[in-house]
Amino acid sequence: MVFPRNQWYVAAYGEEVGEELLARTICGEPIVFYRTGAGDAVALADRCVHRRFPLSEGHRDGDRLVCGYHGFTYEPDGRCVAVPAQTRIPRTARVPVYPVVEQDSLVWVWIGDGDADPAAIPRAPWLDAEGWVVVRGMEPLEARYELLVDNLMDLSHETYLHGGYIGTPEVAETPITTSVDEEAGVVRVSRRMKDVECPPFYANSTGIKGRIDRWQDIEYQPPCLYLLHSRIAPAGLEPAPDGDDSAAFHAEIVYGITPSTETTTFDFWMVARDFALDDPEVTTYLAESNRTVVMQDVVALNLLEKVIATEPEGYQELSINIDTGGLAARRLLQRMTDES
Ligand code: FES
Ligand SMILES: [Fe+2]
Repeated sequence: MVFPRNQWYVAAYGEEVGEELLARTICGEPIVFYRTGAGDAVALADRCVHRRFPLSEGHRDGDRLVCGYHGFTYEPDGRCVAVPAQTRIPRTARVPVYPVVEQDSLVWVWIGDGDADPAAIPRAPWLDAEGWVVVRGMEPLEARYELLVDNLMDLSHETYLHGGYIGTPEVAETPITTSVDEEAGVVRVSRRMKDVECPPFYANSTGIKGRIDRWQDIEYQPPCLYLLHSRIAPAGLEPAPDGDDSAAFHAEIVYGITPSTETTTFDFWMVARDFALDDPEVTTYLAESNRTVVMQDVVALNLLEKVIATEPEGYQELSINIDTGGLAARRLLQRMTDES
């Protein structure tokens, strides 16, 4: 397999896991999610031990799952407690259980063995905090997750792929700075633009009329969590000497990049903002235009995956300065994959 194992991945939004059975293949592993009567999210291998029928095609009996083929019945801890036409339950009748943690409104699942340490889950506190409003969605991608990582690490594509939404000429023209924290396993890419055009996405949501200072500070924590700290302010409005930046507008753009199979991906996208909190029109506008932007990427990446499928073994890409962050991310992902 090509995925880093022994890692936490975003499996779902909290509200997606409930009474219904939710089937999601993550890193090639079919998993069924649901919520117990006590409110805990559960993740079991989505394959009955008897004849492999997907448990997500069965039904619930209280907190138990009943296989839809011959009725094997499982507890949330994976133990089988009933089989048809006999009272003796085979000792090995048990489906694997995946550790699950809900944090920052996301359901995280541990893919791997060993120590599933919840403290290792990266944070995105704005998704679930006072003073922020969040819009979000999830688009399934017919492309490998590495293509989404590349896409998000290189925002110069905004000018071309997302012109009229978030892209302006200055994004592609401004050089980036890149750094890698090897110890923490974080890649940072920044682009600071001074006195530039305000793209419609921010002009319409913040109400700023003139030119802006625009900061894009990316923080990618491989494999699963991508943060883009976006600062928009009228041109010349600097943070105060004590660091107070409350006069600027902030958007925290968060992606959960979750591999499903080798060539498909769950693209969880979220935008949290600290302005126009009580304005439902801004919320609707941001939800719709961000989904449009995400879909522009989805169409492009699906196309790229098709191209990759037809190309000869060993095809060499050409990389330039704007790819520094993406290349660093690939290197960290490769190391994580090799180690797992
Ligand atoms: S396949 Fe599940 S009970 Fe037979
Ligand atoms: Fe994009």
